[in-house]
Amino acid sequence: MTSTVHAMRTQVGIIGAGPAGLLLSHLLALRGIDSIVVEVRSRAHCEARQRAGVLEAGSADLLRAAGLGARLDREGLEHGGIYLQFAGQRHHVDFRDLTGGQAVTVYAQTEVVKDLIAARLAAGAAIEFGVSDTEVADAGTDRPVLRYTGAGGGRHEVRCDVLAGCDGFHGICRPAIPAGLLTVHETSYPYAWLGILADVPPSTDELIYCHHPDGFALHSMRTPWISRLYLQVAPDEDIAAWPDDRIWAQLRKRFALPGWELKEGPVLEKGIIPMRSFVSGPMRYGRLFLAGDAAHIVPPTGAKGLNLALADVAVLAEALASLLTCGHTGLADAYSDTCRSRVWRATHFSWWMTTMLHATPGASPMEAQLQLSQLRYVTSSRAAATTLAENYVGYPQLKTAAKTYP
Ligand code: FAD
Ligand code: DHB
Repeated sequence: MTSTVHAMRTQVGIIGAGPAGLLLSHLLALRGIDSIVVEVRSRAHCEARQRAGVLEAGSADLLRAAGLGARLDREGLEHGGIYLQFAGQRHHVDFRDLTGGQAVTVYAQTEVVKDLIAARLAAGAAIEFGVSDTEVADAGTDRPVLRYTGAGGGRHEVRCDVLAGCDGFHGICRPAIPAGLLTVHETSYPYAWLGILADVPPSTDELIYCHHPDGFALHSMRTPWISRLYLQVAPDEDIAAWPDDRIWAQLRKRFALPGWELKEGPVLEKGIIPMRSFVSGPMRYGRLFLAGDAAHIVPPTGAKGLNLALADVAVLAEALASLLTCGHTGLADAYSDTCRSRVWRATHFSWWMTTMLHATPGASPMEAQLQLSQLRYVTSSRAAATTLAENYVGYPQLKTAAKTYP
C-alpha cells in the first residue's frame, strides 16, 4: 500500500518555531514573502520553555519596528545597569552613563515567543506544531525541499525557494550540510547552572552577577512578582540533590551582604543548564541558511543567545527579500560573514563574562588572584566598565530603520 504525500509550495521553509524561526517568518511576511514554519514541539511547550530573559536595546527596537512592541512596552522592565558582586562588595555598572543612554529590557523569551506566535496566527500564517521526521533535501539546487509528518500523521512535501534552519543546537539542519564544508570551533566549561523560577518579588532593582568562592550566582527576574535565580554547579550535577532549601541556603550564602536580604518563595520550576561555546560556519549551504542556536551557542552569562538569534534573522530577512523579490544575491552571499562578525563578538564577551565570574574548579591561587584583579579593574576603571556595558547592551548596535518594516 502506498501512502499519500501532501505536496505544497511556498517561498521559505522554516524549520523550528523558536525566536529565530518565528521572527524570520514574521519579518518575511512584512516583506510580502510566504513561509511555513514546522516545529516538533507543541505550541504550549514552545510558549512555556524557560530560557533567556534580557533583550538588548537593538533587539527591543527590532521587535517594536516589526509591530511586536505593545506588550513589551507595557510589561518589559527597562534596566539601565547591572550589579557586579565579589569579595563581599556590590558594585553598580551604569549602562546609561557609560554608553550614552542605552539600556536593556527584561522581557522573557517565553513572552517574545507568545507575542510572535499570536502575531503569526492572527495573520493567518502556516505554523505546524507537533511535526515529526523533519527532513531537508536538495539544498544545493534552486528548489530545496522540506518534508515532515504532520501532527495528524500525514506526510508532507514542501517545495521552497529557500530553507531556513532555525531548529536550535540539536536540530537536523546543521548536520544536513555535507561533512567537510562546515568549520566548527567549540569549548565547554567545567561547570553548569542550576536555574530556578521563584514565586517571589525580586530582591533587587537590577540583575546581580555575583562571584563567590562557592561559585557564581545570578539574581534575575521575569516580572515585578517573579524572580529567576541561578547557581553555578558541577557540570554533571543531579538536580535531585538540590531540594529547595539547599538552593535557597546557597543563594543566601553567595549573595550575602550586610543590610540586604534575599526574599524567598515557592520554587515554581528548576533545571540544570549546560554551558558551551560553539560557532559553526559558514551559516549557509546553497539554499539552506542557518540562524540562531542552529549555528552557534554561547554560555548564558551575559544574556547573548536570544539576542544573537534575533540579530541573525534580521539580517536573513533582508537578504532573502533581496534574493526572492529582486533576484539580487549580494546580501545572501554576505549573510554568513555579516552574522559571524557579531557572533564572534558575543562569543568572546560571553566567554569573558563566564570566566571572570565563575569559580574555576582546580584554579591555582595565582589564577584566583588574576580573576579578582580583573573584577576590581572592571568596577574601578571607566574604560573597562565601558567595555562591559557596550557589549551587554549590544555591540555592534543592531540598527533597525523604521522604514524597513512599513
Ligand atoms: P531555539 O529556541 O532552540 O528554537 C529551535 C526550535 O526548533 C525549537 O522550538 C525546537 O523544538 C525546534 N526543532 C528542533 N529540531 C527540530 C526539527 N527536527 N524539526 C522541527 N523543529 C525542530 N540565552 C540567554 O541569553 N540567557 C539565558 O538565560 C538562556 N538560558 C537558556 C536556557 C536553556 C535551557 C537553553 C537551551 C538556552 C538558553 N539560552 C539562554 C539560549 C537562548 O534561549 C537561545 O539562544 C535561543 O532560544 C535561540 O533561539 P533559536 O530560535 O535559535 O533556537
Ligand atoms: C538571564 C540569564 C542570563 O544568562 C543573564 O546573563 C541574564 C539574565 C535570565 O534568565 O534572566
